[in-house]
Amino acid sequence: MHVAIIMDGNGRWARKFGWPRLDGHRRGADTVRRMIRHAPELGIDELTLYAFSSDNWKRPAEEVSGLMGLLEHFIATEVSELKRQQVRLEFIGRRDRLPGTLLPAITGAERDTAEGKRLRVRVALDYSSRDMLLAALRPGMSREELSRAIGPDVDLLIRTGGEKRLSDFLLWECAYAEFHFTPVAWPEFSERDLERAMEEFRGRERRFGRCTINMNEPSSVSV
Ligand code: IPE
Ligand code: IPE
Ligand code: MG
Repeated sequence: MHVAIIMDGNGRWARKFGWPRLDGHRRGADTVRRMIRHAPELGIDELTLYAFSSDNWKRPAEEVSGLMGLLEHFIATEVSELKRQQVRLEFIGRRDRLPGTLLPAITGAERDTAEGKRLRVRVALDYSSRDMLLAALRPGMSREELSRAIGPDVDLLIRTGGEKRLSDFLLWECAYAEFHFTPVAWPEFSERDLERAMEEFRGRERRFGRCTINMNEPSSVSV
């Protein structure tokens, strides 16, 4: 079960209390910790988290460097706990524009957690799905080959913070994903909220283009 999350609403959440936007990101990092701990109990074995988009470089330098610092701090303080939880941490996105100290932190975290088998967490950093697709595509490539190069299909995509858009996240992988949009801001997103999203997902009928399975349902669409 692959769940992908657009962790949105940090800045607006902080501003609501008159706090700096970075406080929202800081609290957002706590939510990441809580979700990683809870995900395996819900049957999630793959979690992809949108942490920083390639378009997020357009934000004020102070916010960008604050975010990069938070990420580095997260890695430095969290890796041993992730190992204990048997979590494998990976990063997707561009690496050539990251601050000097973040790159070795990332590669070190990937190496140190490589044996984790319970949950794979992929953090999307300097990530653009369009750019990933352009970089991976080869002439004559099959769907399967591109999927292998890009990454696994998403089962459930969650976006917190109220917006209903993909913002250049996992465009290919979400072809048949179920979507869960919630107004809850990421810093306030709870374990119960994740459970609710999973319950909603389990209630959905994924047809992948076929007819509905229960043809007797009045709402069924038959051709
Ligand atoms: C998501 O929260 C985190 C990042 C994009 C890094 P935002 O910072 O986008 O928060 P809002 O959407 O402005 O509230
Ligand atoms: C998407 O959120 C990126 C992350 C959550 C990391 P944004 O807040 O950057 O997206 P837009 O600008 O509202 O589309
Ligand atoms: Mg946002």
